[in-house]
Amino acid sequence: MDWDGRWLATLEERAREVLPAPVLDYLVQGSRESVTAAEATDAWRSVRFHPHVLKDVTDVDPSVTLLGRKACVPWGVAPTTLQRKVHPEGELAMARATAAAGSVMVVSSNAGTLFDDIGATGVRWWLQAYLPADRTLAEPMLDRAVAAGAEAVVITVDTPVVSTRYVEGASVWETLDPATVRVNFDPGYDEQPGAEKALDLGPHDIGWVSGRTGLPVVVKGVLRPDDARRSVQAGAAAVWVSNHGGRQLDRAVATAECLSDVRGAVQGAAEVYVDGGVRSGLDILAALALGADAVFLGRLPLLALVDGENGVAALHRELLAQTLEALRLAGCRTVTDTRAIVPSRR
Ligand code: FNR
Repeated sequence: MDWDGRWLATLEERAREVLPAPVLDYLVQGSRESVTAAEATDAWRSVRFHPHVLKDVTDVDPSVTLLGRKACVPWGVAPTTLQRKVHPEGELAMARATAAAGSVMVVSSNAGTLFDDIGATGVRWWLQAYLPADRTLAEPMLDRAVAAGAEAVVITVDTPVVSTRYVEGASVWETLDPATVRVNFDPGYDEQPGAEKALDLGPHDIGWVSGRTGLPVVVKGVLRPDDARRSVQAGAAAVWVSNHGGRQLDRAVATAECLSDVRGAVQGAAEVYVDGGVRSGLDILAALALGADAVFLGRLPLLALVDGENGVAALHRELLAQTLEALRLAGCRTVTDTRAIVPSRR
């Protein structure tokens, strides 16, 4: 693998060579006709910058403070399932490389690695959870995450039901060794009445999760300013602008289109994160300029994980190089400076 230059754009091609077709399809596909998934990256590309010049960009600092603690880079790893199908070391490889980059990893509740083992890598990590119809069934998993050092709980609110995805041939779920997924739940968890995803999530669930865990709660899957406001009023420490990588409601709006309105609605009362289609340092600059406190990456680190810890480490290095270049060219020394380059929409 040549780690230089434009290899980020070739990650999917590389994964296609290595992974069985059902796994690769699961990683890249969107729901239904994949309209939203297909639009995500172009939405970032359509952002135009008004760069500063005559600014000293000798020393550039890409760090951010997230939930009260410094992260070396303004991006983190979004929660994704099936990391052990992508590489045998799965979440552990992702965690080690992400810790070395000084970034944050959000661990899917569907993870195939025990929370204790992820925590033992020393990575800074947050738990992502889907809440079940009977909330009390989530308690053991939440307690395990707290005990293993999770620093926040991200509740995903855009999945009252799992959207339809069209697959040709075998679905990845038919090829799955159950030992590589959902290992942080008790055996037989999914067969219990009430274990299905909650259809009645509400703002009160934010307080319930923070009360149970004592951790800050991040609400993932917000696309509207009014929902962002309701989340913050209910105690969310951050709202995460996301359409689940185009894997839930197809034809949902691109996150690049709604980020600045959400930022405006929150008015600094909570942090604002974004994901969806971010594939380069320029995409990261666009997200920061539109008001994101941090950007999260789903498919990019998952595809890089094909080459294990080295692959994910190379991804973090390449993104750092691209982001520093973008910041310098935009005349920005810090992430805060990017807010002043006020991108105009075409
Ligand atoms: C996801 N995503 C996701 N989100 C979540 O809250 N819990 C999960 O378990 C998963 N699992 C998952 C698996 C796979 C294969 C993908 C691609 C995505 C969504 C993820 O956190 C994120 O919102 C999107 O992936 C962001 O879009 P990009 O960066 O993939 O374009």
